[in-house]
Amino acid sequence: MRTQVCIIGGGPSGLLLGQLLHQANIDTVILERQSREHVLGRIRAGVLEEGTCRMLERAGVGDRLKTEGFIHDGTMIASNGHQFRLDFKAHTQKHVTVYGQTEVTRDLYEARDQTGAKILHHAQDVLPHDVTLNTPYVTYKLKGQNHRIDCDFVIGCDGFHGISRQSIPSTLRKEFERIYPFGWLGVLSETPPVSHELIYANHPRGFALCSMRNENLSRYYVQTPLSERVDDWSDARFWDELKRRIPEAAADQLITGPSIEKSLARLRSFISEPMQWGRLFLVGDASHIVPPTGAKGLNLAVSDVHYLTEALLQHYQEGDPNALETYSKKALARVWKASRFSWWMTSTLHHFPEHGGFGQKIQEAELAYLEQSPAAQKALAENYVGLPY
Ligand code: APR
Ligand code: PHB
Repeated sequence: MRTQVCIIGGGPSGLLLGQLLHQANIDTVILERQSREHVLGRIRAGVLEEGTCRMLERAGVGDRLKTEGFIHDGTMIASNGHQFRLDFKAHTQKHVTVYGQTEVTRDLYEARDQTGAKILHHAQDVLPHDVTLNTPYVTYKLKGQNHRIDCDFVIGCDGFHGISRQSIPSTLRKEFERIYPFGWLGVLSETPPVSHELIYANHPRGFALCSMRNENLSRYYVQTPLSERVDDWSDARFWDELKRRIPEAAADQLITGPSIEKSLARLRSFISEPMQWGRLFLVGDASHIVPPTGAKGLNLAVSDVHYLTEALLQHYQEGDPNALETYSKKALARVWKASRFSWWMTSTLHHFPEHGGFGQKIQEAELAYLEQSPAAQKALAENYVGLPY
């Protein structure tokens, strides 16, 4: 088989890139290791920057997002038993849209179905070859049979555990990592959200977040030590812990119910440089991971897709031989800024036992300063709604 661009991984990065290239008459094949149901079963953050919404609209998948997404002009920040509102709109004239990543992925799958472009599920042992030559190809197994796709470019959209990044020789890769000494225990429940905007709460017992998917679907998180197991957390224990960490007024209004999903996620900052090796390009989680505080993961994947789409269009439509050479540098500049912001949100809002009482007081002072300082609020708002690209 031959295609112009072979995309490894059918998560949001691979699907969005595939859609934008299809619109430009560039042929793609997507190779996905899992089933479609598996990919659509993942629950991830649901806060979209305006740039992300623009890209989804451009890809022709903005309709449901427009009718079912919730526009948030601000967020609540809680500390020391007290909460205040951070007004994104007043500081940036921008907002974010609350719309689950699962829904984004579903919309992208439906759009790909309509184009008839190829997506092969259950592709095993996917491996890129000869990416430093002009004739790269990808091998894989499907139902026990070996296959090969010849292409112009290979794009690694295969997430943190994918093979694309690892196929770059380790001597050419530089990896930067911070592992945080805690996780997030998340619960999804069919209950009305406690607040119409998100609440990010700093508390000596640990961070808590009140988020949502729609009027009757709430998403809540509490910070837990890495030693905790999901099975040790009954619904009652979760609700009790959440109530202790959010301001009393919110706790009094919290409507609890049975959890329909409960999971523990570790927090990590990770960046692998560069994002290109010859004709292999990395996009999204394949190259970088941010902790979920601030919900930058999907938004960063989308800005990578933006830079790569522009470069591929310049290559194919304008014959610019150098367009692709600047991809890694442009994408990484934004990745590092969003990683800094996610690290800052994580560091400021979570409890770090090793930092003791001093660390807690410094966080409370920082959040009190944030409440009083329009300059500090603007800096946070600008990053939260998304830096320009
Ligand atoms: N071969 C083929 N497909 C693979 C392989 C492989 N060896 N390894 C992984 N994959 C697939 C996974 O099954 C997954 O569907 O690649 C896809 C990668 O998707 P994501 O992990 O969602 O990464 P990405 O598309 O970059 O999305 C980034 O979405 O996943 C969230 O937290 C992430 O918010 C971030 C954003
Ligand atoms: C979520 O809704 O899952 C969510 C929202 C905001 C975050 C992280 C996760 O910062």
